[in-house]
Amino acid sequence: MKSNPPIIIKLGGSVITNKRRPLSTRKRVIKRLGLEIKKFLQNNPDEKIILVHGGGSFGHPLAKKFIDERGYFDDDAFVRIIHVMRELNQIVCKILIDVGLQVYPIQTSCVFRYERGGLVFLSQNLLEEALNRNLTPLLHGDIVICDSGYTILSGDTIVAYLAKSFGSKRVFFVTDVSGIFLDFEKKKIIRKISIGSIKSKIRSHLPEIPSILEYGVFDVTGGIRTKLVEFTKYGQPGLIITILNGLKPGNLYKSLSGHRLGTRIIVV
Ligand SMILES: Nc1ncnc2c1ncn2[C@@H]1O[C@H](COP(=O)(O)OP(=O)(O)OP(=O)(O)O)[C@@H](O)[C@H]1O
Ligand SMILES: [Mg+2]
Repeated sequence: MKSNPPIIIKLGGSVITNKRRPLSTRKRVIKRLGLEIKKFLQNNPDEKIILVHGGGSFGHPLAKKFIDERGYFDDDAFVRIIHVMRELNQIVCKILIDVGLQVYPIQTSCVFRYERGGLVFLSQNLLEEALNRNLTPLLHGDIVICDSGYTILSGDTIVAYLAKSFGSKRVFFVTDVSGIFLDFEKKKIIRKISIGSIKSKIRSHLPEIPSILEYGVFDVTGGIRTKLVEFTKYGQPGLIITILNGLKPGNLYKSLSGHRLGTRIIVV
């Protein structure tokens, strides 16, 4: 792409919904986050943004129900998970359009699939064209076709994949936590970590990192861990990934504007 590579923002299911209550949304939070993004774009007209949202209290409980009851995703699971994610997507999309963002929703299950184990994205040109028109594409975690049937594609993986294919330099995960905690009492967060040191910690199975990434509510796509692991696969040197708390007003705008908030993961 000729212009600035896009910034990618994941509006996590943990912040746009209440993951403890099925089918709940946090409409005021979505609106405020939309306004913060809008303000950033107004103040930085050369920047472009791709949005991705997570499954939250819509996708995760339904996916878990199918796994628990059937052990795999059949055609019924495929169409029902798509449907519930489209319901959440409609709510998010309407709120963001109403705050003035030119949101272009893209149904993930139509543009991503797995082939021979690898993730394939079918709409790179379309997304580039949308960005050139200053539209804000909005994708979401979803269920997609794979060789053996269907599988969940997490919003986190989409973010990592798109960051690589668009050469993004900055990625933001907006969540309900202030970053990655280093202890179960949630007192200490990691301020800055390199993807290399995460890799070696994961590879050597050092106890503190893997186990601390697993507390909290159920997440079919692996919670905080996926955010890290996917970038060990797709991370490009120069990329900075920020995990921040979007329940705190102003955090996203500040972070987009260069303030150092939350956990910053550096790919070297
Ligand atoms: N070490 C850790 N530091 C911070 N949060 C952690 C840690 N380990 C687990 N978590 C959990 O990870 C959650 C955030 O990840 P989660 O996948 O639930 O959110 P999300 O990605 O925003 O949601 P979605 O997958 O629906 O988009 C936090 O709410 C917290 O409970
Ligand atoms: Mg998650």
